[in-house]
Amino acid sequence: LPHFVSVENLTVDQINALINRAEYFKKGGQVPTLSNPVYVTNMFFENSTRTHTSFAMAEKKLGLTEIPFDGSHSSRSKGETMYDTCLVMNALGVDLTVIRDSQNEYYNPLIHLSADHHLNIGIVNAGDGSGQHPSQSLLDMMTIHEHFGKFAGLKVAIVGDITNSRVARSNMEILTRLGAEVYFSGPEYWYDHAFDKYGKYLPLDELVDQVDVMMLLRVQHERHAGDANEDQFDAQKYHEEYGINQARYDRLKDDCLIMHPGPINHDVELAGNLVEAPKSAFFRQMHNGVFMRMAMLEAVLRGRHLGGLK
Ligand code: CP
Repeated sequence: LPHFVSVENLTVDQINALINRAEYFKKGGQVPTLSNPVYVTNMFFENSTRTHTSFAMAEKKLGLTEIPFDGSHSSRSKGETMYDTCLVMNALGVDLTVIRDSQNEYYNPLIHLSADHHLNIGIVNAGDGSGQHPSQSLLDMMTIHEHFGKFAGLKVAIVGDITNSRVARSNMEILTRLGAEVYFSGPEYWYDHAFDKYGKYLPLDELVDQVDVMMLLRVQHERHAGDANEDQFDAQKYHEEYGINQARYDRLKDDCLIMHPGPINHDVELAGNLVEAPKSAFFRQMHNGVFMRMAMLEAVLRGRHLGGLK
C-alpha cells in the first residue's frame, strides 16, 4: 500500500493478512531487515496517548528512524497548511508520516495532489475527525480474532457516542464485511439512522446478555460544540442508561469481551472498578496495537519500496 488512510478499501484477504502478520510479530516473529534508513514523523494535531506512543513503539521495533515533531508547537499554528507541512517533511528527507487531524479526510488532498505535484511521502492515518481510525479498527479486529478465532456469526454491540466516533465508523464497516452481526445502542441523539444498513439499534439491556463483544465508545465532549445535548449532559444519568455497571457486567456472557478505544470516562461508559475486570480487554487492545501498527507500517514500506523492502 502506498498510503494507509482507511479500512474501507481493504479486501478481506488484506485484512486477514494484516491480522496474521501482527500476530506473527506479537509471537516474536522476525522483523524485515532494512537495507537503508527510513525516516518517519508522527504529526499529531489532536491529542493522543495510545496511538502516538504505539506508533512510535512500532516504528522503533521495525528499525525506522523517528524524527521528533510536536504538532502543538508546529507552524500550522501560524496558518501553514497540511499540504505545505508535508512538503516541508518531504524536503527534509522524511519518507513516511503518521498524521492525526481533526479534519475529516484531511488526507485526500495530500494523496490526490501528490500525483501532479512535488509531494512524495507515505501517509498513515492515525485518525481524522469523525472519519476513520484504521489502526484502532485493525487492532480491535486482531483482539477479537485472537479471542474467538473468527468473526463470522459473532454478535458485536457498538455503544455510545456513535455519530462522533471515527472508531465506530471504521468498525461497523469492517465487522460487517468480516461476517459479524453488528448492533448499536446508546443515546438516540448520538446515533444516525444512516448506520441502520450495518445493524439494528436496540436498548442496551436487550443486548447485554446476547453479544460476544461489547464495544464501548468514549463520550467525545470535544466534538459536541453547538450540540444542545452536551449542555444537558449528566454523567450519572448516562452511566445508568447506557453504561456498563456491575449488574450489566454480571449479565454479559462469560467469554464476552468489553472493548473501548480509550481514554475511558470512568463511571460514564464503564464503572471505574471494572476497567481491569476479567472481561475488559482494553490493555490487550493497546498491547496488540503495537504489533498491528508494525504490520500496517510494513505494508506501506513495501508499497513504497522503502528500506529496500518489496
Ligand atoms: N484510541 C485512541 O485513539 O487513543 P488516543 O487518543 O490516546 O490515541
